[in-house]
Amino acid sequence: MESLPVPSVQAMVAATGGAEVPSRYHRPEASQDPVANDIEAEIPVIDFQRLLDPDACPEDSARLHRACQDWGFFQLINHGVPSDVIKGMKASIEGFFQLPPETKKKVAQERGQLDGYGHLFVVSEDQKLDWSDVLYLNTRPPYRKNLRFWPDKPDNFRLTLEKYSAATMNTVERLLPIIAKNLELQPEALTDKFIGGIQSIRMNYYPACAKAENVVGLAPHSDAGFLTLVLQVNQVQGLQIRRNGTWVPVKPLDSAFVVNLGDTFEIFTNGRYKSIEHRAVVNTEKERLSIAAFHGPNMHAKIGPLKEIVAHEVEAYKTVDHENFRRLFLSGKLVGKSFLEQMKL
Ligand code: OGA
Ligand code: NI
Repeated sequence: MESLPVPSVQAMVAATGGAEVPSRYHRPEASQDPVANDIEAEIPVIDFQRLLDPDACPEDSARLHRACQDWGFFQLINHGVPSDVIKGMKASIEGFFQLPPETKKKVAQERGQLDGYGHLFVVSEDQKLDWSDVLYLNTRPPYRKNLRFWPDKPDNFRLTLEKYSAATMNTVERLLPIIAKNLELQPEALTDKFIGGIQSIRMNYYPACAKAENVVGLAPHSDAGFLTLVLQVNQVQGLQIRRNGTWVPVKPLDSAFVVNLGDTFEIFTNGRYKSIEHRAVVNTEKERLSIAAFHGPNMHAKIGPLKEIVAHEVEAYKTVDHENFRRLFLSGKLVGKSFLEQMKL
């Protein structure tokens, strides 16, 4: 993909006072969509410790099954990532975005590169842009790390990210057998594909915008990978998921992960579990930060319906090499679930 470096939104807001919305960011149509109110809907909450308990009652895993099937989104509490690791990561990313522009630029994305500080999915000069800056880093397996784009400020950033990466990966690895069981699969049907699985971490910074209704923080999309763990860094909400034609705001519990199923999950399960579109809106007064950890199978795994699942049903998705799958995904702008459409048979 050709990624065209664009100026940081944070720097632009600092320069203009944030009251103006340049035309490349002006997207008033986004605020026309209906948004559900507080009492209408709330994503399910899953307690990980209860699921891991050898004496867990079947109702706990059934709740996870329903969350995957009916929502594609849930909040994971008691997820096992130590609170000091979460705290350290939050502080590191807040610290990074507060650094002077020249310091952040040292890890700026380069043309054709995803890693680093900048924007994602900028594919043309005239395309509309999201009201956010990102720091995107490949974290696992180790050969995918490009340390050239890992900030060395604030102090300990790299070490903190390593710890966070290991802990979130561990949570995902422990979730896999439970998900496999819910799908009536042997654990290995999933876990084998995640030996040497990939992980990328994207840290999102959404500056406040006085005319927030005229901008989009992160345009509607589904995630390409298998599972995403999103951590809300500060108290400002903004994530919304598409459900029954409306946008449902997510209200994260303190230190919970908001977990969502990506396109790879939908493909593996031949559509039993679906990836769900989501977006981020911007606050009028306060900046917002979030950290999304994306997880996918290893690069040798084929991306297609699991053979155990399609033994007795018609395949609804193509099977492609992981490399080709990623290339296809990265070649376009994220627009809703349009990428997944290309994988359908
Ligand atoms: C993402 C994402 C949501 C958020 O990075 O893919 O959906 O709350 N982030 O920032
Ligand atoms: Ni996403």
